[in-house]
Amino acid sequence: MRSRTTRRRFLQTATAGCLLAGGASFENAVGGIRATGFQSPNEQPGIAFVGTGIRYHTYHGKQALKHGPCIAVCDVDSLQAGRALQVAIDHHRTAKRPLVIDAFEDYRRVLDNKDVDVVVIGTVDHWHSKIAIDSMLAGKDVYCEKPVTLTIREGQQILETQKKTGRIVQVGTQQRTEFAKRFATAAAMVREKRIGDVAEVNICLGGSRNCEPLPRATPPKTLNWDLWQGQCQHKDYRAEKIVRDQSGWGAGFPFGRAHRYYRWFYEYSGGKLTDWGAHHVDIAMWALNKLGDDIGPISIEPLEVVHPVPLDPKGMPLAEDRFNCAVSFKVKCTFSDGVVMYVRDTAKELGFTNGIMFAGRNKSRFLVNRGKLVGAPVEGLKNKPLPSGSLGSLYIDDPTEGDQYGKPGYHMTNFMECVKSRNTPASDMLSHHRMLNVCHAINIAMRLQRRVVFDPKTERFGDDRLANSFIEREQRKGFEIGA
Ligand SMILES: NC(=O)c1ccc[n+]([C@@H]2O[C@H](COP(=O)([O-])OP(=O)(O)OC[C@H]3O[C@@H](n4cnc5c(N)ncnc54)[C@H](O)[C@@H]3O)[C@@H](O)[C@H]2O)c1
Repeated sequence: MRSRTTRRRFLQTATAGCLLAGGASFENAVGGIRATGFQSPNEQPGIAFVGTGIRYHTYHGKQALKHGPCIAVCDVDSLQAGRALQVAIDHHRTAKRPLVIDAFEDYRRVLDNKDVDVVVIGTVDHWHSKIAIDSMLAGKDVYCEKPVTLTIREGQQILETQKKTGRIVQVGTQQRTEFAKRFATAAAMVREKRIGDVAEVNICLGGSRNCEPLPRATPPKTLNWDLWQGQCQHKDYRAEKIVRDQSGWGAGFPFGRAHRYYRWFYEYSGGKLTDWGAHHVDIAMWALNKLGDDIGPISIEPLEVVHPVPLDPKGMPLAEDRFNCAVSFKVKCTFSDGVVMYVRDTAKELGFTNGIMFAGRNKSRFLVNRGKLVGAPVEGLKNKPLPSGSLGSLYIDDPTEGDQYGKPGYHMTNFMECVKSRNTPASDMLSHHRMLNVCHAINIAMRLQRRVVFDPKTERFGDDRLANSFIEREQRKGFEIGA
């Protein structure tokens, strides 16, 4: 049973009291206030989904609705919203929940609804920060897909808002808690020195996709192209006439600027660096314990980079009729303690194309990806298991006790548990911001086609004017992010 009125009143009173008292006993992970959660573990949060494309159908819808009713779906394409609504209604019919669910085009209508407790954001990347910030300001907790930010500044704004509002934010980097604990085990092995001191990490992400020139086209009638573009400067809609991907994650849509394929444009995303990098660079830096701001400057040197279009000296694509993110790359990141992290599209000489290979100074090494955790040090776990608590100590608040930990869908469960307990979720915003800054910095180095040095403490590139010009982007009038 939900007890909406009581809960709301309790939340407002507690938050106000906390603000008056300076919030000393209610510190959250980013050092601000901690808003109050549900009074009873039986209460179910009201859920709204903003952005209902492939991720809604493959994960959000399925996993979140286990924890509470769908109050609303929202998409700037009414066809996408309609499909999502049908899925939610079908789920409610089976679960014997009310069949009245709102469907909106404008996410602000979702935020006005007092029955919405949590907002699950699965929009295109360039909308994540604004919707996350506005949701927190409206008193909602947030599950936001990776990459949460488009720029370093956006991350700072989200953290400022989280500190101010005390809302819970879980980032959709489910490798931290799912996939049979493979990635968490890998991180714990590194921290437990099962390969001794780390010398080198190779991360393979695959390359961004390439395409033929995309013709100008009329946007589908169901799609509000202006709203879809949000903060980005207006561009003509472009899409092929045919659908190339007949199966798999992109199926059903033509190559173009919008659905599915937006991730291969720097205007909207960061190509593979923010698509898969947000997962694998995260695991590598988590394992290396390099998500603090005290790790010293990182040298980022592009060794090989191929972009599908020419770039001007400021790193801006010179053609707008095709994908523009790097299709192949090898970038050397050197941390101040000498550990080298290569981020690349593929590592055929090492025998893998997707995953993370950790190598010790003693030459021992192992590989982890979504399907496997292999190598001699992994075999060694049979005789010498990791000490108890070593996985739990990777997290700010240990989620490993839950019996679903490691299983598909647990990341959403962990979020919903934190909505109630007000603990910090496994993929907290601060560490995501710091990790994603490195992915952004790698993209900046690739676009400038030269070495840059990123300082995690100042979140700047020293006095490198051109690199610093990427820290923040101009936002289209009416779509500014104002924390
Ligand atoms: N965690 C993971 O493993 C994983 C996997 C796939 C995708 N993702 C992430 O999920 C997000 C969505 O990816 P996708 O593949 O589902 O893309 P998609 O293009 O299929 O869906 C995005 C949807 O957002 C909608 N949208 C855009 N702006 C909006 C706005 N202002 N309000 C409401 N709806 C809006 C679009 O119309 C579209 O329907 C991306 O950020 C992606 O990186 C994460």
